Amino acid sequence: MKEVWSNRFDKGLNPFIEEFNASIGFDINLLQEDLDGSIAHVRMLGNCGVVSSEEALKIEQGLEKIRLEAKEGKFKVDIKDEDIHFAVERRLIALIGSLGKKLHTGRSRNDQVGTDLRLWLRRRIDELDLNLKRFQKALLMKAKQNVYTLIPGYTHLQRAQPLSLAHHLLAYVEMIQRDRERLADVRKRVNISPLGAAALAGTPIPINRKDTALKLGFSKIYNNSLDAVSDRDFAVEFAATASLILTHLSRLSEEVILWASEEFAFVSLTDRCATGSSLMPQKKNPDVPELVRGKCGRVFGHLQSLLTMIKGLPLAYNKDFQEDKEALFDTVKTTQDCVTAMSILMEEGLDFCPDRLDNAVGSDFSNATDVADYLATKGVPFREAYQLVGSVVKQCIREKILLKDLSLESWQKLNPLIEQDIFQKITPRQVVASRISDGGTAFEKVEVQLKEWLDRI
Ligand code: ARG
Repeated sequence: MKEVWSNRFDKGLNPFIEEFNASIGFDINLLQEDLDGSIAHVRMLGNCGVVSSEEALKIEQGLEKIRLEAKEGKFKVDIKDEDIHFAVERRLIALIGSLGKKLHTGRSRNDQVGTDLRLWLRRRIDELDLNLKRFQKALLMKAKQNVYTLIPGYTHLQRAQPLSLAHHLLAYVEMIQRDRERLADVRKRVNISPLGAAALAGTPIPINRKDTALKLGFSKIYNNSLDAVSDRDFAVEFAATASLILTHLSRLSEEVILWASEEFAFVSLTDRCATGSSLMPQKKNPDVPELVRGKCGRVFGHLQSLLTMIKGLPLAYNKDFQEDKEALFDTVKTTQDCVTAMSILMEEGLDFCPDRLDNAVGSDFSNATDVADYLATKGVPFREAYQLVGSVVKQCIREKILLKDLSLESWQKLNPLIEQDIFQKITPRQVVASRISDGGTAFEKVEVQLKEWLDRI
């Protein structure tokens, strides 16, 4: 088998360099998109009279034959093919004869690979969006069961104020929604056709770029042929979006890992999503969230590789671009896997422990703000009330009691405006219920949010 370009050369490639140069080992992933792109291209060539309609049809049938062969595992590629584009062209010529040599009229591998990659990524974005929606659903189902379950809320990982557990989970639903919006936005820039930009400057062949764009479902074509083949911004944007998705998953992972520790014990891991230790018989380890947390590094790394790959590249196509594929492929796979794993974790991997949670919110000073707020509503300037409660907390810590243990007498000694209703005001449930500001954790507010999400998703 000879290289397509071998006539220009006297000697064959060094076998190591042949391997080094080839992308067929991984861009075989783009087979379907390469066929789709070529079919659109050849139909357009037919429409424009560059090839006859019979020729176009025969080439298209040849390409469909390759699709079928691939499905049956009969499409064999070779390192000599160099990449998926040459592999398809070679097989096409083997199947339909020298007519196959007309396929590449009016295009280059530079616009072809850009087209394939965008078609591939567009599909993956749509799949990822569906998967993110599944994850949101899993969070919503857990939230639905836990509107009235309380969980300590933290700042600085110090007990701050109690929350409705549903409120906590809904925060992640919001984050994932922003991720989905970002994906939809990236998709707009993925969905532009570079096809017909040819090598870099366009082509004298009377092609119709809008026609192929339309056939392939692209929303428009690149205005500038040079930009069309030079642009990998969409790959960076996707990797950045994926990095944020992984960041969000990693934050939840970290929380689950903490919650599952004996120190917190807010959740127990079910047997479906936890693993044991080889040595310590008592262990049940949160491998799933740990792996998700760990896999962030790969995706952040791919973002970095893509940026570095593009930085300082002169226009237009440079072989450096061949490196975009593995980075993107692994970004997509890792992100998809992590979203799926976290969905399963939410769906069947976690049981919240209501007793532990109840106990946690009832045994700290996370109701201190509420005493200050209580006094503030009675006209005491907030800063003054805050100072007062600070000293009460100090005194309670010294006496090893909680605010709820103070008698009405001692409250009134602090400030005569305090009445019997203080006891009800500082119960964890009331503390949560009282936070009725928009977006607050009050049960009634959380119910509204939850309903809105359930209607939406
Ligand atoms: N295998 C190449 C890549 O992945 C395809 C484009 C090659 N174009 C070229 N002019 N060498 O980027």
